[in-house]
Amino acid sequence: TLTVDSTGRGATIDRTMYGVFFEDINRAADGGLYAELVQNRSFEYDPADNASYTGMTSWAPTGGAGTAQVVDDEARLNERNRRYLRMDLRGGEYGIANSGYNSGIRVEAGKLYDFSVWARAESLPLTVSVTDPAGQPLTDMLRLQVRGDRWAKYTGTVRARSSSTTGRLTLKASGTGTLRLDMVSLFPRDTFKNRPNGMRADLAGKIAALKPGFVRFPGGCLVNTGSHYGYTAPDWERKRSYQWKDTIGPVEQRATNANFWGYNQSYGIGYYEYFQFAEDIGAMPLPVVPALVTGCGQNRATDDPALLQRHIQDTLDLIEFANGPATSTWGRKRAEMGHPAPFNLTHVGVGNEENLPNEFFARFTEFRKAIEARYPGITVISNSGPDDTGATFDRLWELNRGANVAMVDEHYYNSPQWFLQNNQRYDSYDRNGPKVFLGEYASQDNRFYNALTEAAYMTGLERNADVVKLASYAPLLANTDYVQWRPDMIWFNNHTSWGSTSYETQKLFMTNVGDHVVPSKASATPTTVAPIAGAIGLSTWATSASYDDVNVTAANGSSLFTDDFSGNDSRWTKSGRGSWAVSNGAYVQSDQAAENTMVTAGDPAWSNYDLSVKATKLAGR
Ligand code: AHR
Repeated sequence: TLTVDSTGRGATIDRTMYGVFFEDINRAADGGLYAELVQNRSFEYDPADNASYTGMTSWAPTGGAGTAQVVDDEARLNERNRRYLRMDLRGGEYGIANSGYNSGIRVEAGKLYDFSVWARAESLPLTVSVTDPAGQPLTDMLRLQVRGDRWAKYTGTVRARSSSTTGRLTLKASGTGTLRLDMVSLFPRDTFKNRPNGMRADLAGKIAALKPGFVRFPGGCLVNTGSHYGYTAPDWERKRSYQWKDTIGPVEQRATNANFWGYNQSYGIGYYEYFQFAEDIGAMPLPVVPALVTGCGQNRATDDPALLQRHIQDTLDLIEFANGPATSTWGRKRAEMGHPAPFNLTHVGVGNEENLPNEFFARFTEFRKAIEARYPGITVISNSGPDDTGATFDRLWELNRGANVAMVDEHYYNSPQWFLQNNQRYDSYDRNGPKVFLGEYASQDNRFYNALTEAAYMTGLERNADVVKLASYAPLLANTDYVQWRPDMIWFNNHTSWGSTSYETQKLFMTNVGDHVVPSKASATPTTVAPIAGAIGLSTWATSASYDDVNVTAANGSSLFTDDFSGNDSRWTKSGRGSWAVSNGAYVQSDQAAENTMVTAGDPAWSNYDLSVKATKLAGR
């Protein structure tokens, strides 16, 4: 029975409560949200980014009399965009073709595509078109004449004659001489809001349709890159930490970088584009800067006071870039990029998932002091590490609470059972302590059931909207051909995109944000969960239980998985707070009140079956 107190008034729900978290993971930016169709446009791919890369990744000569070579020499375009393609022509026609992302470059009949390239040569004709893999034209041909052995930008537009998802951007020169090319670019004219250097309309449109209250960016572990690779590398060097100043200004002057997630990132979507996008979709921008401690598979803290001060100054400069007058040093840069008005930044996250609580908090405190002194109106967000519980989590919360931090970023990725069993998580949070920013969470799969458990959980967030002020599912985007992390909210390839069931849950909540909670009570809350495909719960227990002989059987009766717990428990993982062990040929689970869950490591093929689980509870234990 559900009892609703229709005249009562629970917590006020902020309009910004539900937002999105964009991280460049799963090729979410280049080959994803960033509408650029050319992969490795500035020939900067390098084995240091990914062992499979060369400077010619995604490029191939089309044949003819000549050579094409990626070089890094004094003739470079600029100090941060150091490599370029040198083509030596020996008479006749010679060219190169780019295969874009996924199966190729997508063009749609009748649509316009804007081409640009930086080039230099004494004088050489250059033709540009999109062809199919066999070289047959899919678009009109653009004819350019490169004149002058100084770098200059050449531009033009082609119209698609037919549609394809396997196009190749083909550039051909003819004659004799040297042609240098860099920043070879092709954008669909129809970007989101028709912005130049813009975003893919379908993906940005799907995010906009959520009507998110905020956009957290750019990571995630992405902002911790420096902890892995060093914070001190020169600004053109690969494997440098993600630093916002690298990502603004003319795109041809932005260095590319080794992405934390194992690929090259162009920074074509940089801080200006993030702020602009947030404004375009009516969301609050919420950047996260590195705190020089990590997290994310490493436990390292950078001990360099000068470096720390530089990063703190960079954060102050970031706030000036977002909010300062167009006459200020960094506000001027924003104005020069096309946005004289401020972006109204109100929140900044410092750090992501730090595993060294004391080291992190010492550095966080320095950031906080400097930011609050200069910009008292800015909310500085701390975090509670990578887990929903545990010693690091507890210590970080203790430090955050003790210092009266305004808001703490929590992250967790758990089983669907966990989400059902933890609906009350925030009921007991201190109403006078730091507020919660649930910056990353997901139920671990992309099935309907996961979305349902997320929806159930979100009712608990909403009921506690006086404590949980912001919440975002993670990750947001995944290119089906380059997946590092799943589940994800929106999936795409080079020509189409679709929302997961979790997308629909998020949309339901984000597009229906209430003004306040209406108090309600259920007379019983289900605490056990029926086993489902891919996640098998032994869900009936009292305080402590032992199980033996787990048999997982498909609907047709065939046996998929058995375990008699004769000693090897490596097939099982657990989530939750309780403890478990294999003892005397039985699986023994204790501390049930703290909601433990066990799941098998999972066999994807099981998703094809209706599963049933049978566990024998041992008598007398
Ligand atoms: O969302 C994917 C990753 O999960 C994020 O980069 C990190 O913060 C978390 O561990």
